Amino acid sequence: MSQKSPPAALAPGHAFFFGLGYAAERLAARLLSAGWRVSGTVRDPEKQNALRERGIAAHLFGPGMPLENPERVLDGVTHLISSIPPVDAGDPALLAHGEAIRATETLRWTGYLSTPAVYGDRQGALVHESDPPNPGSARGRRRLAAELAWMDVLDGAGDVQVFRLSGIYGPGTRNAIAQVKAGTARIIDKPGQVFNRIHVDDIGTILLASMARPAANRIYNVADNEACPSGDVIRYACALLGVEPPEPIPFDSAALSPMARSFYSECKRLDTTRLVKELEVQLDYPTYRVGLSAIFAELGSGAE
Ligand SMILES: NC(=O)c1ccc[n+]([C@@H]2O[C@H](COP(=O)([O-])OP(=O)(O)OC[C@H]3O[C@@H](n4cnc5c(N)ncnc54)[C@H](OP(=O)(O)O)[C@@H]3O)[C@@H](O)[C@H]2O)c1
Repeated sequence: MSQKSPPAALAPGHAFFFGLGYAAERLAARLLSAGWRVSGTVRDPEKQNALRERGIAAHLFGPGMPLENPERVLDGVTHLISSIPPVDAGDPALLAHGEAIRATETLRWTGYLSTPAVYGDRQGALVHESDPPNPGSARGRRRLAAELAWMDVLDGAGDVQVFRLSGIYGPGTRNAIAQVKAGTARIIDKPGQVFNRIHVDDIGTILLASMARPAANRIYNVADNEACPSGDVIRYACALLGVEPPEPIPFDSAALSPMARSFYSECKRLDTTRLVKELEVQLDYPTYRVGLSAIFAELGSGAE
């Protein structure tokens, strides 16, 4: 696991996560060990208790369940990360607590975790952050609206940066090795379809690099250096495990959730020059092979 400390230029502050999910929890652990104060939201009281035991001040927040006393909860927060996906009505955190967020005077940096769905289908072309968004799905349109709402809410009162994350994977259950082992791995065959991925700990590294260099309303593509078909990743995981890959399923006849079908209906490669040039980030996991090999090695060492 990447245990890189936050950049030296980044003094410990108070990070608040709207949504302590997969990516947020991994970054929260790094911040805690670097002496930060960490708090945030969950929907489940059991998860709230588990996080509190690890030193994270977790608060309940979800549909019909606003934060209790949001001004007090946000008081002293220096860095705010939102990882809650938007709903039809808008961004859950902004709908419930936009005013309290805007009133948080201590806020120095805000990161909104978004998706490349805002670009729409680019038929495999390389997409740069300066390309105008053109979402082709309801999912992409909701995301774009949420990005704009976050940039708007703190207009002049804090630096919002938007991170368009490609397919997230990493230790635990969110990787192709775990899927193959669980018997849930499928190879969806759609000729020409490729996408990027990003290791969860590279996301943390990128967010930390951005915190050290705030840039108001800046957008960053967050991706590895190798867009490829999903089948390549499953086949690589099978090779690591020494098992035969599953038979490919043609896209047209595959049983897919509406979310997965919408995802596979678009194709793009993400340009990540900005990560390197502006944030000076070197990915620890530049390809899925490096990332999966590291996960496989950790499994072998019993670390997972
Ligand atoms: N997975 C991917 O490949 C991918 C790719 C691109 C972008 N993204 C986006 O990037 C962000 C981070 O991804 P992730 O995989 O770390 O997300 P995740 O594990 O699904 O975490 C999302 C967090 O948001 C909370 N949440 C969800 N809906 C909510 C609602 N209506 N009200 C309050 N809280 C809510 C969840 O609460 P609980 O903890 O209670 O579940 C969880 O803490 C998400 O917005 C995701 O959609 C994901």
